[in-house]
Amino acid sequence: MSQSKKKDSPASWRHYNFTTAGPVDDYMYSMLPKREDVLVEMEDYASKHKIPIVGPAVARVLQQLAMAISAHSVFELGSAIGYSTIWWAQAVGDKGKVIYTDGDSKNAERARGYFTRAGVTDRILIHTGDALEFLSEQKQEFDIIFNDVDKDDYPRVLRLVAPRLRKGGLFITDNVLWSGHVADKNPDATTKAILEFNRKLYDSKEFYTTILPIRDGLAVALKK
Ligand SMILES: C[S@@+](CC[C@H](N)C(=O)[O-])C[C@H]1O[C@@H](n2cnc3c(N)ncnc32)[C@H](O)[C@@H]1O
Repeated sequence: MSQSKKKDSPASWRHYNFTTAGPVDDYMYSMLPKREDVLVEMEDYASKHKIPIVGPAVARVLQQLAMAISAHSVFELGSAIGYSTIWWAQAVGDKGKVIYTDGDSKNAERARGYFTRAGVTDRILIHTGDALEFLSEQKQEFDIIFNDVDKDDYPRVLRLVAPRLRKGGLFITDNVLWSGHVADKNPDATTKAILEFNRKLYDSKEFYTTILPIRDGLAVALKK
């Protein structure tokens, strides 16, 4: 192979164009254990009404990460119908607390019904209103802060998070690959916000960050 060809092709260990292929995605979802009826119903509702939930593969990662650090407190920015909230609530156990936030009161109303059915109402505090404002009012340090609000606000979220997360806690953010738009030659304003967020998160001295290329990309940042 010529020197220039070597330079252009990705290293063999990168598995370029492999993990995101459709059939592999099908396989990954086929591996997931059966979920409670209420979660399956929420997945169907979200699909039918185009509500952008994380879905079961990412939800399982979220729950696993919470279990790995024995998380008891989670602040969620952007909760919609409460799908990811239920996975967090199951992970923190009956003495744990999860803060649900969403700007849409209809979402909160629907979420409340699901929480009752999932038997996790006591573990969840529902806040309707601006998630960033509510986070900025928090005095406690959380074990996990999960960011899933409007993507244009991601840089602003990053500025708020560090003082409200305990050392060893996780700052987790969904959609950081933005359906692949992060590789666009002429990114739009929303993509630029995500690019800024990802760059600053990786560069931050307060966090140790990785992006997991699962579904739409999940950034996992450990507070040092
Ligand atoms: C991607 S959905 C959340 C999905 C949820 N995390 C899940 O996976 O089940 C984003 C939600 O964030 C809400 N949202 C966006 N910006 C917000 C903000 N600044 N404050 C509160 N809610 C916000 C929207 O109303 C929407 O329901």
